[in-house]
Amino acid sequence: MRADQAINIADLHRMAKRRLPRIAFDFIEGGIEDEHGIARNEAAFLRHRLIPRYLVDVSKRDQATTLFGRAYASPFGFAPTGTVGLFRRGGDLMLAEAAAAANIPYVMSGASNATLEAAAKVAPDHTWYQLYAANDSRIAEDLIRRSRDAGLGVLVLTVDVPVRGKRERNIRNGFSFAQRRLKPAIFLEALTHPGWIIEYLRNRGVPLVENWLPYAGAGASAEAVIKFFDTQTPAAAQQWRELETYRRLWPRPLIVKGILHPEDAVRAADIGADGIIVSNHGGRQLDRAPSPLEVFPAIKAAVGDRLVLMLDSGVRRGADIVVALCLGVRFVFVGRAAVYGVAAGGLAGAKRAIDILREEIDLALAQMGCPTADRLGPEFLLSER
Ligand code: FNR
Repeated sequence: MRADQAINIADLHRMAKRRLPRIAFDFIEGGIEDEHGIARNEAAFLRHRLIPRYLVDVSKRDQATTLFGRAYASPFGFAPTGTVGLFRRGGDLMLAEAAAAANIPYVMSGASNATLEAAAKVAPDHTWYQLYAANDSRIAEDLIRRSRDAGLGVLVLTVDVPVRGKRERNIRNGFSFAQRRLKPAIFLEALTHPGWIIEYLRNRGVPLVENWLPYAGAGASAEAVIKFFDTQTPAAAQQWRELETYRRLWPRPLIVKGILHPEDAVRAADIGADGIIVSNHGGRQLDRAPSPLEVFPAIKAAVGDRLVLMLDSGVRRGADIVVALCLGVRFVFVGRAAVYGVAAGGLAGAKRAIDILREEIDLALAQMGCPTADRLGPEFLLSER
């Protein structure tokens, strides 16, 4: 099966698994410690049933929405995902291109393998930039300046990575981005994934974290840039005052990603953030964290309309997005669904991931008797307590 023939996200997941060596696939797939968080994220969506209404004209359906003054064709976008180049060379810009073609936002990761300037060329109206604070504050400030100069529409500050978590799959696989050569056992396993290993060898190893090249020093190798990146992030000392600084420096919509506590949401609003992404990083940071869906109602009650409330973590189906919208989420992001797509089939796979989710939303709207996504609300939900 080709990626553009995938019927659902699970198909793309299977194809990505087949194409990638274990070290790379596990990096996408994995969570923290026991991976309870991933299971909790997925299960949280299933605790809400959608109650259909019939004898409603659903011959025309509309899932378009407006966010920060811009019209998007669907109520979801691509979450920032780092090191996509390891799964598919050039993958970051494929995600950007697919998002622009489908008119949804693409959030470039702070650990991407292409520059934000290149993404701004490929997807000038759809690229947002996700910032990781750096120990040297001049780097974060320069990335903000570059995002501004490149004309990017939205800045997303990810706050849920104060430290790198215990990702046991990566530890067990013995993989480090900064190593020069694949260890023999890893290399041998990778040989059973010829498409990937050929791409890896042809490109001489790990991909460059390209936005960071100027800070690591001109001419630095990919390994040297990663080593430098690791000295700068995570910035464990980061505090709210950094958000205040970024608010002063960034003239356009500013979003905080990784909020799970209502008081943190209020604090972000007080500092002047425009929105938050309620997220547990796809279960990749604190395994015992709640799923975003569980805490969303309390966050919404605390901040009301002061912030644009978005959410990610655990979305595998269009119906998941519909459930979130019924709960009052304005916009949803997908991480793994997009990465599976691009890993499995490059640009075509990224496009397919969008089409699958878009079609599933469309069918759910029709089946529910709610022709426009903007009219979704709690009256469509039967929720477990
Ligand atoms: C991520 N995520 C992430 N988040 C972020 O703010 N910056 C980053 O660089 C990354 N990198 C990254 C890499 C990979 C491979 C994955 C799967 C995820 C988290 C991402 O933005 C998002 O919060 C989760 O992926 C959402 O959960 P789902 O959709 O993967 O279940």
